[in-house]
Amino acid sequence: MTTLALFGGQPVLEKPFPTYYTIGEDEKKAVNRLFDEKTHLSDFVARGGEYFLGGKYVKELEKHFTDYFKVKHAVSFNSATTALQAAVAAVGAGPGDEVITSPYTMSATAASILYNNALPVFADIDPDIFNITAETIEPLISPKTKAILPVNIFGLSADYDPILELAKKHDLPVIEDNAQSPAGTYKGRYAGTIGDIGVFSLNTHKVIQCGEGGILVTNNDHYAHRARLVRNHGEVVMDDFITQGQPFEALLGNNFRLSEIHAAVAIEQFKKLDELTDERTALAQYLAEQLQKFPWLTPPKVLPDCRHVYYIFSFKINSQKAGITRKQFAAAMKAEGFPLAEGYQKPLYLLPVYQQKRAFPNSQFPFVSSEYPSNVSYKKGICPVAERMFEEELLFTAACQRPQTKKDLDLFIQAIKKIEDNFEKLKTY
Ligand SMILES: Cc1ncc(COP(=O)(O)O)c(C=O)c1O
Repeated sequence: MTTLALFGGQPVLEKPFPTYYTIGEDEKKAVNRLFDEKTHLSDFVARGGEYFLGGKYVKELEKHFTDYFKVKHAVSFNSATTALQAAVAAVGAGPGDEVITSPYTMSATAASILYNNALPVFADIDPDIFNITAETIEPLISPKTKAILPVNIFGLSADYDPILELAKKHDLPVIEDNAQSPAGTYKGRYAGTIGDIGVFSLNTHKVIQCGEGGILVTNNDHYAHRARLVRNHGEVVMDDFITQGQPFEALLGNNFRLSEIHAAVAIEQFKKLDELTDERTALAQYLAEQLQKFPWLTPPKVLPDCRHVYYIFSFKINSQKAGITRKQFAAAMKAEGFPLAEGYQKPLYLLPVYQQKRAFPNSQFPFVSSEYPSNVSYKKGICPVAERMFEEELLFTAACQRPQTKKDLDLFIQAIKKIEDNFEKLKTY
């Protein structure tokens, strides 16, 4: 039994794993081509006509998404955050409305609801797939509910069949936050294409990326139309749409447009989606198998007939079985050369914006409003499973991605074994 690095022993890994980076010659050539062609760096114009929908690279990127995911519309944005904001606007949620979502996600999921002056209502998550479920959503449905917004968290879809059935029963649209799960599947369908709208992220941390970017996909013409208006100062083209006899409802747009450079990079990245996903999935499946050797750890669960794409490789610790806390385990792993993140995000309702019910300095709108009285609760304890995952059980590692190999993951497992062999000593830390 060797001494833990935490107590002065030799660490399993001397040098930390390199970070994930997938930008290379293809992306460089694509950007150079754009400069050689003297393409405008952004080709959007906020006026009716051809350029209302962007330039050549933006349109090409969108076509890749419609072809691959077999959807009618793909609308690019400069982030998934803005795409989500447009999605919530597209389904018509506004002041006085509520959208049911997960508290265990990146803050942008719920912020996209607040940007529309509607209120997020947080449903608790399932402890194995970390997502809201039909059972946790149903009691929260009220006459104010305008949509359901599950998050395909860590690379795994929500359990959509019961959620879609519930949504149908109450005539509610479903928006999938699919920022983390491109190429994931649920019962043969791509994540992001199961609900009425799906949103993908192309930010720098994602499996495929162009620095910043997002894509909204939908088969619904009306939602696509509204999303495009929100993307590009929609208010100024209303007159054009009226004169062209197209349907419209008044709405305020913004500048959420993706530049041609970002689109050119994203196109090259998109071509690598399958390869990068397969690579990551193979590593994650190997690590999940190896983790089964430790009865005090729970590897990620995959729903039957679904593909988990492991944007984040999450696993759980059972501290009672182990006799050590998550904090002790994470400290020991870090000393062995394998930093782990503890807890993922604090359940969103515990953030100051919800605790203080304040999104603006001079007003508590939309949380407090004489016109739209609300009794949505953001009290600690409303989602006990999400709180437990955050405070006690969940851990994740960035080990399952390029350039790591299965051999590197063997070292990760070796570090866990070393810790297991030293449990008694670690309890004193
Ligand atoms: C679940 C989720 N939703 C939304 C976002 C926002 O994505 P973006 O950074 O592209 O705005 C992220 C980004 O990390 C995310 O993980």
